[in-house]
Amino acid sequence: MIKKIAVLTTGGDAPGMNAAIRAVVRYAIHNKLEVMGIFRGWWGLINEELKLLDHRSVSGIINQGGTILKTARCPEFETEEGQKRALNTIKKNAIDGLIMIGGNGSFKAAHIFGTKYNVPCIGMPASIDNDINGIDVTIGSDTAINTALAAIDNIRDTATSMERIFVVEVMGRESGYIALQVALAGGCEDVIIPERRFNLENICHDIVEGNLRGKISWIIVVAEGAGSAFDIAKKITEMTSLETRPVVLGHIQRGGRPSAFSRTQAATLGEAAVECLLKGESDKAVSIKDGKIAVIDLEFAITKKKLNVDSLYNLVKVLT
Ligand code: F6P
Repeated sequence: MIKKIAVLTTGGDAPGMNAAIRAVVRYAIHNKLEVMGIFRGWWGLINEELKLLDHRSVSGIINQGGTILKTARCPEFETEEGQKRALNTIKKNAIDGLIMIGGNGSFKAAHIFGTKYNVPCIGMPASIDNDINGIDVTIGSDTAINTALAAIDNIRDTATSMERIFVVEVMGRESGYIALQVALAGGCEDVIIPERRFNLENICHDIVEGNLRGKISWIIVVAEGAGSAFDIAKKITEMTSLETRPVVLGHIQRGGRPSAFSRTQAATLGEAAVECLLKGESDKAVSIKDGKIAVIDLEFAITKKKLNVDSLYNLVKVLT
């Protein structure tokens, strides 16, 4: 029977992580469990930076971006020494199970650590990239898309007024998910994603043809994993002689008030994660698949997600 669990946020922060911590803490307390909060992700587990959380510790955070537990990328956790120190923290504090809130890299670390040292680990998917396999949407990605979309709407105003071409770079490491969503929702003229080869000559040809028809302003969204807005904008200017501006949205996509969708996801997945530990599950991730809560193997969750990009990609082009 488990008595005490610990919760941590790791890797890149995502809006809704706080709502996820709140759900885990309150649902666990509701089930008579003690909850420790680990600070700065795996780093805090290695360095024993943790404290007991109560009901009030998570008050007033549901609407805040970021994570009150802080987060970090922690290469030390990949070493034998780091993992042994982390295990020591777990034993010393009598922690019976871990709930890890994070993205793909964090899930990989939890899978390795949990299976190697027999520590029950449950992953809650939170990342703006939506790159975890077997999961419809990760906590935070809906908010990030809306943040990027608001920026693109603003850029549209100046693009139209000054009759310019813009290349807007969005986050998403190896995934074109954010790029595709915002390109479609923002009515953008083209999108460049890592999942699809692109030909800049064709894009420039379309721009010049459009220009002859009187269409002067364009917004081309590029996923960071597919290219750099600065390089692409420079080449478009060289190839078309038209004024082109690059914009890199960067980390503004990671912060901000979580959307209702990110928060409700965090709440339901928080409940599911605690239930997993109560049922003695380990090496699992909680997910929402086809609209329903599902519990999947961490090993499956960390395999490369194959995004079905075709329909959205084609639609962006058709609706231009
Ligand atoms: O994983 C989320 C993410 O925001 C990616 O989209 C991006 O490539 C990366 O993190 C940036 O990481 P960092 O903030 O560590 O530079």
